[in-house]
Amino acid sequence: MSKLISGFSRLSKKEKINWLTENYFQNQAETVKIITQYWNNDEDLQQLHDDFIENTISNFYMPYGVAPNFLINDREYAIPMVVEESSVVAAASLVAKFWSTRGGFKTEVIGTEKIGQVHFMFVGDKSDLENYFNQNKTELFSATGSITKNMEKRGGGILDIKLVDKTDKLSNYYQLHVTFETKDSMGANFINSCLEAIAKQFEKEGIEIVMSILSNYIPKCLVRAEVSCEIEALGGDDPQKFAEKFYQAVKIAEIEPYRAVTHNKGIMNGIDAVVLATGNDFRAVEAGAHAYASRSGEYSSLSHCEIKDGVFKFWIEVPLALGTVGGLTALHPMAKLSLEMLQKPSARTLMQIMATAGLAQNFAALRALTTKGIQHGHMKMHLQNILNQFEANEEEKEIVTTYFDKKTVTHSAVVEKINSLRKPKINWVNFLDQDFVRTQLSKLNENSKPVFGSMNAQQMIEHLSDVTQIANGNWNVDIFVSDDKTAHRKPFLDTKNELQIGFKASFIAEEPNRLKFNSMEESIHDLIQQVEILTFIFTENKNRTVVHPFFGELDFEYWKKFQVKHFTHHFKQFNLV
Ligand code: MEV
Repeated sequence: MSKLISGFSRLSKKEKINWLTENYFQNQAETVKIITQYWNNDEDLQQLHDDFIENTISNFYMPYGVAPNFLINDREYAIPMVVEESSVVAAASLVAKFWSTRGGFKTEVIGTEKIGQVHFMFVGDKSDLENYFNQNKTELFSATGSITKNMEKRGGGILDIKLVDKTDKLSNYYQLHVTFETKDSMGANFINSCLEAIAKQFEKEGIEIVMSILSNYIPKCLVRAEVSCEIEALGGDDPQKFAEKFYQAVKIAEIEPYRAVTHNKGIMNGIDAVVLATGNDFRAVEAGAHAYASRSGEYSSLSHCEIKDGVFKFWIEVPLALGTVGGLTALHPMAKLSLEMLQKPSARTLMQIMATAGLAQNFAALRALTTKGIQHGHMKMHLQNILNQFEANEEEKEIVTTYFDKKTVTHSAVVEKINSLRKPKINWVNFLDQDFVRTQLSKLNENSKPVFGSMNAQQMIEHLSDVTQIANGNWNVDIFVSDDKTAHRKPFLDTKNELQIGFKASFIAEEPNRLKFNSMEESIHDLIQQVEILTFIFTENKNRTVVHPFFGELDFEYWKKFQVKHFTHHFKQFNLV
């Protein structure tokens, strides 16, 4: 059956989900459950989100975190960040704190000019085109009058319109290159509307408009963020060495595109997280930043470093087209909340905050890379993820985090640690404690049911006595245990591990033994006596050893270790510990 469909967008949300699950999923009920689990209970709020795009069927959560302690131009900020990568917010927070005691971040907006272009083809004399453009330039501005009115009130609008000859690259290709100031709005709609009005006005016979669209390459909508301090103030064991290695790392990113891409990716970890949190367009920001990083013809680092006269300086210059009014910033309640957290910044201020987040992230990455290596921090965060995945409680988190403080975090090591904590605590039975043994065993009667195995309670007590009697020399079990076997079995007695349920040494009969005593009390009495004898004869003869039919030759110490495990095993069998 074809999975192509027409009219999908006209289906109701429920119909869309049904069609989708029927055609693309194995377990439809489970799929519907997951999709609907992420709907907001508040129907109006859900409707708001549904309407952002076409064919919405659910929401996709991303963590919304906060990195506090940013000092930017002497003003404090807590920066909201939306990002799924576990170490990003932690790194930003650490670096914010670090620089807050070293003068903080200093930022400045270098420019806010945005760009749009009308791309067109003209076959003919270039000077005719130039004359036509010059004669009509004022009309081109006026054609946008109704669109630019409000923007002009806010101090923005069209800055200039230029005719650009691109025929050396593509035959007959010209542009109207238009520059804009869009103040606090990102301006995409404004720019595109202006361009379409300009194109319409400009179009005539002989001029074929191909398209009119803003450019996301905005090298003059630029912001700079910087940190600097005396090298000594960087702290650590060897600040000079740290500064030099850090400097080298930045230089490598400046000249090596393979490294530069990853270096800049780290910067974008910080920038994108704030772009998302404030409802800005992260694709536009990404495209513009990477284009800027390639402006020399070779992809290079967006950040730079200098060490001069004992001062370490680290800065970034990055183009950012942002809005703090309009678009999603006005519609998405969380975007609004982010802007409030940032103290309702202008677009210029937001540019500075984001550049700071990018620089902080880059500083964190380079500091980690040139010192402990990146996996150290990543795995610490990964540790938290694993703990959450295993639904660790606060106490478990504390214990495991402390345990891995100086150890390498691997998934399996963490899981093993969690499992070891969760192993039920073993209440080892002190078989020499007569009162305890008697009290516990006296709780049993002929109706007591074992948790495992087929012995009844009295048989179990007599079995404990029988095995004790092996040590006492009353029961000779004719079994040879080779030295090899002893060598690998006996160490088990030194461990904290229990005897496995279901374990049965070969000298034990399949069926439980016939009872020797007439009552439970007599059996208990016998067992306690046998334990007394055991202590007595081993104390009398300190060199005494007796072969245990499974563990091999054991002295008193090892017999005691065995007895503890054996008693514990059978006490648990009857829920006595
Ligand atoms: C990982 O998301 C970002 C880094 O790779 C950046 C870098 O290498 O500079 C750590």
